Amino acid sequence: MKVLITGGAGYIGSHTAVELIEAGCRIVIADNFSNSSLVAVKRIRSITETEVPCYFADLRREETVTRIFRNERPDAVIHFAGLKAVGESNEHPVAYYDHNLGSMIQILKAMRTYNCRNLVYSSSATVYGGEAEMPVMEDAALQTTNPYGRTKKMIEEMLMDTSGAYPEMCITALRYFNPIGAHRSGLIGEDPLGIPNNIAPFITQVAAGRRGYLQIFGNDYETADGTGIRDYVHVTDLAKGHIAAINKGAGRNGYHVYNLGTGYGTSVLELVHMFRLVSGKRIPYVITPRRPGDAAVSFADTSKAERELGWKAELSLEDMCRDSWNWQQKNPAGYRSEMIMEVETL
Ligand SMILES: NC(=O)c1ccc[n+]([C@@H]2O[C@H](COP(=O)([O-])OP(=O)(O)OC[C@H]3O[C@@H](n4cnc5c(N)ncnc54)[C@H](O)[C@@H]3O)[C@@H](O)[C@H]2O)c1
Repeated sequence: MKVLITGGAGYIGSHTAVELIEAGCRIVIADNFSNSSLVAVKRIRSITETEVPCYFADLRREETVTRIFRNERPDAVIHFAGLKAVGESNEHPVAYYDHNLGSMIQILKAMRTYNCRNLVYSSSATVYGGEAEMPVMEDAALQTTNPYGRTKKMIEEMLMDTSGAYPEMCITALRYFNPIGAHRSGLIGEDPLGIPNNIAPFITQVAAGRRGYLQIFGNDYETADGTGIRDYVHVTDLAKGHIAAINKGAGRNGYHVYNLGTGYGTSVLELVHMFRLVSGKRIPYVITPRRPGDAAVSFADTSKAERELGWKAELSLEDMCRDSWNWQQKNPAGYRSEMIMEVETL
């Protein structure tokens, strides 16, 4: 099977690329590198010892997407490309609708034209909003609180309509909980530009001394230690969930939705504690007020993915924190570490 991975140089896309190649698939990456680095593609090649075709492409452009499909004729698409920061989406909602909806529409048009019938889409637990009962199941009501979340919900609706009109397609939306960790080699990982929006890179940068302290948003939630609870899932487990979904999609049709998480909730303080154990470093933190829109508790019911896809997360919280820390230590400035070294040797 040949799989087009949009956003394949990004955090989850790069890990999925490695797992797909190791599972015997041929892959093609398309990315505009707005939030990623060519070094990630180079590292995917070195981990897998495989030549990976890669297009520098803005997927909102119809001619660009058409050209990729005409050249590559993929059997399946995993669509990761898009913008993903909640705070930024409040400041720049139009950019979020433009990139996220725009690229999805072009991909769907090209899939129709080139008779490509198997799509896996990156959705998010953010579509459940803050009020759902936990552990949350896929049939819970959707309720979004920001433009980013609304793009995810709108795209799911777009996919449902598309599947209804073209029953020969198989479209699978995967709702990720909180991916953290990195490839065990330490060669690929999460590489935020500027101040990290996600907690794991923030913590590892504090542990490494790049940032002074972690801000914990609220310790007055109704949880055991008062901090928010999330379902952290190792990015390699998440990547394997895509392989399960794409393989299943090759043999069926319709529209399907799955939660991808571990099914366990971990508080922010428990996460900090685990990072302290694996790194042996102090992780100073300050408690600041809650952020509007943050849920107190969020964790998945993963029984549907287990039953229908045969997928279950296997790696522990310790594995996640150890691999994030390994990535941070080997790449103190992320992928820029490699570029800095190359400049110095010249
Ligand atoms: N990381 C998370 O916590 C998380 C949680 C839930 C859902 N998701 C979703 O998973 C997907 C991947 O997330 P990630 O963490 O790997 O993000 P990422 O930013 O690391 O990867 C996204 C990639 O898409 C590329 N991109 C953005 N706009 C593009 C465009 N118009 N054309 C081509 N490429 C474009 C970026 O350069 C980047 O490489 C996103 O859709 C995100 O919304 C992520």
